[in-house]
Amino acid sequence: MDNNEIILVLDFGGQYNQLIVRRIRDLGVYSELRPYSTTIEDIKKINPIGIIFTGGPNSVFESDSLSVSRDILNLGIPILGICYGAQLIAHLENGKVATSSTREYGGSKIVYSNAPLFDGIPSESTCWMSHTDFVAEIPKNYTVLASTKTCRIAAFGDIDKKIYGLQFHPEVIHTENGDKILENFIYKVANAHGDWAMKNFVESSVAKIKSIVGMGTVLCAMSGGIDSAVAATLVHKAVGDRLTCVLVDHGLMRKNECAEIMSVFRDGLDMNLKLIDARDRFLSKLTGVSDPDAKRKIIGAEFIRVFEDFGKTLGNVDFLVQGTIYPDVVESGFGKSAAIKLHHNVGGLPAVINFKEIIEPLRDLFKDEVRKVGFELGLPKSVVMRQPFPGPGLAIRIIGDITEDKLEILREADAIFRSEISDADLDSKIWQYFAVLTGVRSIGVMGDMRTYDYMLALRAVVSLDAMSADWAKIPWPVLEKISNRIVNECRNINRVVYDITTKPPATIEWE
Ligand code: XMP
Repeated sequence: MDNNEIILVLDFGGQYNQLIVRRIRDLGVYSELRPYSTTIEDIKKINPIGIIFTGGPNSVFESDSLSVSRDILNLGIPILGICYGAQLIAHLENGKVATSSTREYGGSKIVYSNAPLFDGIPSESTCWMSHTDFVAEIPKNYTVLASTKTCRIAAFGDIDKKIYGLQFHPEVIHTENGDKILENFIYKVANAHGDWAMKNFVESSVAKIKSIVGMGTVLCAMSGGIDSAVAATLVHKAVGDRLTCVLVDHGLMRKNECAEIMSVFRDGLDMNLKLIDARDRFLSKLTGVSDPDAKRKIIGAEFIRVFEDFGKTLGNVDFLVQGTIYPDVVESGFGKSAAIKLHHNVGGLPAVINFKEIIEPLRDLFKDEVRKVGFELGLPKSVVMRQPFPGPGLAIRIIGDITEDKLEILREADAIFRSEISDADLDSKIWQYFAVLTGVRSIGVMGDMRTYDYMLALRAVVSLDAMSADWAKIPWPVLEKISNRIVNECRNINRVVYDITTKPPATIEWE
């Protein structure tokens, strides 16, 4: 990323880490999460205007505790340590960290002292604590800057050195004025100007794509989703006719999806978009495969092969564009967070690729930022607000092995669900809504006949960025109508259930 200003967030494994990055970007400064083990040399190269040490589950006393070189505190770069990050600062600066016999968890009344970090914040408010270890003695030259009833050193800092530690979490909404603290860190301590805006992003990525591609040719895999649409439009803006877009029908699309995509992008947006019918290739490779990660790997690898073959018919193709976004990168195991799923567009790539390079212009963006870029690029609302659809398509919405017959059944049920949600005017209020063909079959009765058929699950969630999600509270009469229509109109489905699980602990997709 070519932004001038960057706040580096060093990841010590806390669950709120991406939230910190999001909040900072919302405040107008580009921010990135990097592993705590990022070297001093790399930090100097990144040249951040400020660094945040996140919280984490460790204790500074553990022999394998996650640490950083003490030199980082002497780079002259402002630092904010949060929870574990604060204890680490105290520990590195020869203060004293102690372990309490009980875990402090929840809201506490806090009293702040005067400091640039707390500028404009009422001296008394509420903060959110979640810790066992605490700073018992501050290091030399540091000052106590906030206290709660049970935590004498709730915040401390060396104002001249611009290093602060907070025992509580400013990034969670339960901390009153938490955003203001982060804003103060960025603007009053690190002296940012705030140059992170989607307009700048469009300009800098177009320039970057131009310089990478030069006079080369580019191939873009479109899925019809917002990510690949925005990625393609950015690249189109940079290289014009040297971009060819291709839509692969892998046989795992929803009902009428390919036709709709062709009409929006080729006919409506005038892109050079070609449709490849690869249904047989994918389905034969997927026969008998039930494991979700194996499905993703097969699909990811086959995608690349299809593009390579298509590339040969085009003559030389130098670059491939993919719509990978930041949560895909993080969830595939970047940083300290555990790998949750093997996303087909990151982890599943085959080792040998016959392209010079893969271009992923949205790799640093969260979903809502991608939408902002979409609007910035002038894409129509129907494209920008389209619900996300995963690259592996219906393959990860059929639990167990995939057959043409199951795909047919799922497509019909999913189409009914989608049309009813749209008729009820709920489509813009729900992040994603789709049907899942579970592997479960159950007994039913239809007319006088006993049936033994599939159970279909409906999944609908509200979310801001797919990192966390709540199940959508669809009104019962709407659910009732959907269920009635599905069992009456779709063969082989005799039971419909509604998934009422949040993410976490569940994921949005079932596989
Ligand atoms: P989960 O299921 O992990 O999904 O909560 C988060 C978001 O990512 C989408 N998703 C995928 N997108 N390739 C994709 O391009 C994948 O393999 C994949 N798996 C999940 C999912 O639809 C949701 O929007």
